[in-house]
Amino acid sequence: MILPSDQGGRSGDIRRQILWYAIMAPSPLNTQPWSVLCRDPCGIDLYLEKKRLLSHMDPASRQACVSCGAFIENLDIAAREAGFMAEISLLPSSLPGADIDLGQPLARIELMPDPGIVTDPLFSWLEKRHTNRSVFTNDPIPAEIISSLADAANQPFTTLGFSADPSFRQELGGHITNAVEVAFSAPDRFSEFLSYVRIPPISGYQYPDGYGAREIGLHGVRGWLSFLPLRISPAGRRNGLARELLLRLARKGTESAAAFGWIATKGNSRHDQIRAGRTYERVHLTAASAGVSLQPMTCVLESYPGMDDHYRRVLDLLGIPDTHTVQMLFRLGYSPSPAQSRRWAVQDFSGDDEAAAPQWITLLTLPAAFRGQQDRGPLHRARAELYTGESPVRSHPR
Ligand SMILES: Cc1cc2nc3c(=O)[nH]c(=O)nc-3n(C[C@H](O)[C@H](O)[C@H](O)COP(=O)(O)O)c2cc1C
Repeated sequence: MILPSDQGGRSGDIRRQILWYAIMAPSPLNTQPWSVLCRDPCGIDLYLEKKRLLSHMDPASRQACVSCGAFIENLDIAAREAGFMAEISLLPSSLPGADIDLGQPLARIELMPDPGIVTDPLFSWLEKRHTNRSVFTNDPIPAEIISSLADAANQPFTTLGFSADPSFRQELGGHITNAVEVAFSAPDRFSEFLSYVRIPPISGYQYPDGYGAREIGLHGVRGWLSFLPLRISPAGRRNGLARELLLRLARKGTESAAAFGWIATKGNSRHDQIRAGRTYERVHLTAASAGVSLQPMTCVLESYPGMDDHYRRVLDLLGIPDTHTVQMLFRLGYSPSPAQSRRWAVQDFSGDDEAAAPQWITLLTLPAAFRGQQDRGPLHRARAELYTGESPVRSHPR
């Protein structure tokens, strides 16, 4: 159990608590493609984890870098809440745009105590934000909420756009659905997708990564009926049926979008991707705080064979020059709360040296939000069980 410092917790625990919030970040297929090294005295090195990169779905690791940006944003917000300033250096040992050397950190973070640090109201949404893949209601999103989403960005060189125009939504939705079809048309990509998206559900089997029937909004009787054809079909037909089901869901998802949003960068360096990830996380947290659901729909942004035409049409529609890069595309709307997605435990991502942790961290009194962490209700208890459970299933062992 993690104890706060004023109750005897050790300094490494505070860093671990900050990381607990960082790993709540979104990632493609919930791969959680990061690993961290906790350095002495209070540094954190963030790496991309090779074993959790998607070589077919995300061959350039663009999405993995976007998700590391979201991780950094969460870490920054959580550090503020704990009274620390996070000094972040991106790719300290490589040039922007260069290939990633997986042996080098993507970011180096130093946590500095700062009694005057301004906390971020988005902190309360770090563990409530979730991707919602359900069909949305017909309710429009008020203009003031859309402008609060646009104001959420705080990163340079990233631009955001939103549109709720009906013909725009219809046209963009069509491109997104066609793109999903292209993405799933290659057996390698589709089987990589299915190695993280477990449908139909396997009872009694809990994965700490990826997602399943609950997270795609197919649970209860509806879920059971939707998966029945997959369950009773011969093995050779199941992938085809799964593809049809997922395409149907993508179509219904885009058709029910109340609005779409996107994040673009002028370049496409690793810095751009990370900044886009930080921006995306702030937009999603702000949407969550306003009760708006969000689902990224990003297949069209990948340069798979056969995607070029769809991507160009999307750029045209968004009014973005083809020298720029759309890093995130998402639909927005209203729907009941999404299912919570799972995570590996913090210790699965980190190597650290607690003995070397500095004394000054232990002397700080933790803020209330962190003090309450010992028991934050049933969700936290369920998670704690999953994280500390005897034998979590490792589908992608490292
Ligand atoms: C770069 C990136 C791309 C994503 N693309 C999609 C997507 O195309 N479709 C989708 O349903 N979710 C997409 N997601 C959402 C992830 O699947 C989701 O973050 C992950 O399953 C964890 O769930 P959570 O967001 O509920 O915490 C994407 C997330 C990221 C960071």
